[in-house]
Amino acid sequence: MFEASENRYDTMQYNRCGRSGLKLPAISLGLWHNFGAITNFETQQKILRTAFDQGITHFDLANNYGPPYGEAERNFGIHMDRDWRPYRDELIISTKAGYDMWKGPYGDHGSRKYLMASLDQSLKRMHLDYVDIFYHHRPDPETPIEETMGALYDIVKSGKALYVGISNYNAEQSRVAIQTLKEMGMHLLIHQPNYSMLNRSIEKGLTQVLEEEGVGCIAFGPLGGGLLTERYLNGIPADSRAGHDPRFIRPADITEEKLNTIRALTEIAHRRGQSLAQMAVLWDLRLPQVTTALIGASKPEQVIENVKALSAPAFTAEELAEIDQVLASKNW
Ligand SMILES: NC(=O)c1ccc[n+]([C@@H]2O[C@H](COP(=O)([O-])OP(=O)(O)OC[C@H]3O[C@@H](n4cnc5c(N)ncnc54)[C@H](OP(=O)(O)O)[C@@H]3O)[C@@H](O)[C@H]2O)c1
Repeated sequence: MFEASENRYDTMQYNRCGRSGLKLPAISLGLWHNFGAITNFETQQKILRTAFDQGITHFDLANNYGPPYGEAERNFGIHMDRDWRPYRDELIISTKAGYDMWKGPYGDHGSRKYLMASLDQSLKRMHLDYVDIFYHHRPDPETPIEETMGALYDIVKSGKALYVGISNYNAEQSRVAIQTLKEMGMHLLIHQPNYSMLNRSIEKGLTQVLEEEGVGCIAFGPLGGGLLTERYLNGIPADSRAGHDPRFIRPADITEEKLNTIRALTEIAHRRGQSLAQMAVLWDLRLPQVTTALIGASKPEQVIENVKALSAPAFTAEELAEIDQVLASKNW
């Protein structure tokens, strides 16, 4: 039986999620990759146990994480039964619906029909009575926002989720969603956008909306899926994302131009006494609006390395300017 470390709360920072009562760990763990059918169950178990022992209390899932779709939740249900039941009240578990999940007109997008059915399926797969956060995974331009937010509202009222969030909505779509939910008397807890040194688009308006509205931000993909690490500096390791599961990073995507940028960033990180992965995580967290950086990991050691980022000194203005310069001069 798993017994969590006595010291699990000693080093992690917990940040308040917008204007809410909920605190999230500065680093959260996502189960998009490495928790489906192609990853050894014991490896998954070690990653989750290591994360919790490091103070990571938040595990992020979605209906379609796998492969195949649903498999990460199904595996998480087994982990739940084996390890996590005694720790349920120490955990924030989230899931989402919004992308294609099952055949026909009711298995995608943002209708009440899809969101209600999908959450019921997720709870069954994960062997849970409720999730802590349920997200609409992406905006749906065809479904009236009142219907999507109304479904989120009713989900909280039914007790199947404690809080709700949105993901991948732009600044304007977010403002409308937040306002719609507010008119029903409910606060949107959190937004989950992509944010890393390779994608700074949230800086152009979204962070301002979140700050004004008191909505937290869980920034996904701080390592650019592994590009913002030293993983690819000497070729493509067989056990890397590009090496073994190239659905999202193809070996051909790792060009000499990208490697030049990664080398320049690595040099700055090493001068700071950090790995590039650690610098990338800390760089996301430098924004006061970012509540937590949502990482993925294929090995427990990566989780430990990334959490160590939190004990590094804050960036100096010169370091941030140097990073800006490297990013501004990238030609890809
Ligand atoms: N809302 C959305 O639409 C959306 C979309 C995508 C993701 N997400 C969420 O965000 C989570 C994270 O996404 P992501 O996995 O793409 O994030 P990421 O943190 O940018 O990339 C994670 C990958 O980087 C590599 N890595 C991690 N730590 C490392 C280290 N210390 N040194 C070297 N390599 C390291 C590992 O890849 P290797 O396999 O190469 O070791 C790991 O799987 C997902 O699990 C999911 O919960 C949400």
